[in-house]
Amino acid sequence: MLADLGTVLAKAQRGRYAVGSFNTANLELTQAILAAAEAARAPVIVSTTEKAIAYGDIEVLAAMIRILGARAKVPVVLNLDHGHHLATVRAAIRAGYTGVMYDASTRPYRANARQTKTVVRLCHRARISVEGELGSVGGRADLGANARYTDPHEAAAFVRDTGVDALAVMIGNAHGGQFPEERLRFDLLTAIRRVVRVPLVLHGASETPAAHFRQAIRLGITKVNIDTTLRKTFTTVLRRTLDAHATVYDPRAVLGASRAAVQRVVKRHLALFGSAGKV
Ligand code: 13P
Repeated sequence: MLADLGTVLAKAQRGRYAVGSFNTANLELTQAILAAAEAARAPVIVSTTEKAIAYGDIEVLAAMIRILGARAKVPVVLNLDHGHHLATVRAAIRAGYTGVMYDASTRPYRANARQTKTVVRLCHRARISVEGELGSVGGRADLGANARYTDPHEAAAFVRDTGVDALAVMIGNAHGGQFPEERLRFDLLTAIRRVVRVPLVLHGASETPAAHFRQAIRLGITKVNIDTTLRKTFTTVLRRTLDAHATVYDPRAVLGASRAAVQRVVKRHLALFGSAGKV
């Protein structure tokens, strides 16, 4: 069944587990995510970025996820991931999204807070929960000297100023897999948790060690975002399948193995996050 982001996260926060957010841009990834969630009896967040929307069309992706999500026996959130433009947020509202992540985290505090507050007002009017981001989760180049960590006091003010329902934090995490420079600062997460009540979100969580997930969730992470590892899995298996069956030309015959492999990866993460068996 389709579910609201805030409702799913509130339940997870009470139950002290995290809900997985997995990115999709096509039918096979979506099927893999939902099949894994149903098999694990876990709530799940199916996310589309603006790039995925440019690839697959927001109305087409939304219709597909809404139909498959409504059929599922577990709560499914149709979520906009890293919305950067108001036009995308408006299109997501029209297309029936049930969660919106708006990301103005590269802007200075005041601009980020002002724009996020506008999105919160729009989305709440449509009964959709909003996740904002403070500090800025970038890629590998944004770690080290360039890192923009979340400041706990600014985070408390940001939640108050904007009315967001969830907050993505930068605590040493980066998008695009696990890098040697990537180290989660649990001291910072603890300090943020102490002053921020809304569910906290960990982006860039592909290839994060299992023990780090467990510790982060214990300290208050309620939503975990996974993208890169699904894409890597899908493509690695696709390459292997094509190499092994040089004469096969039916897309259905070559995509099935990739879909099954992604399903296994999602299922493993749902167990790690403690959300398996919660439905
Ligand atoms: P990864 O690509 O590192 O898994 O990050 C995913 C993410 O944070 C999507 O919002």
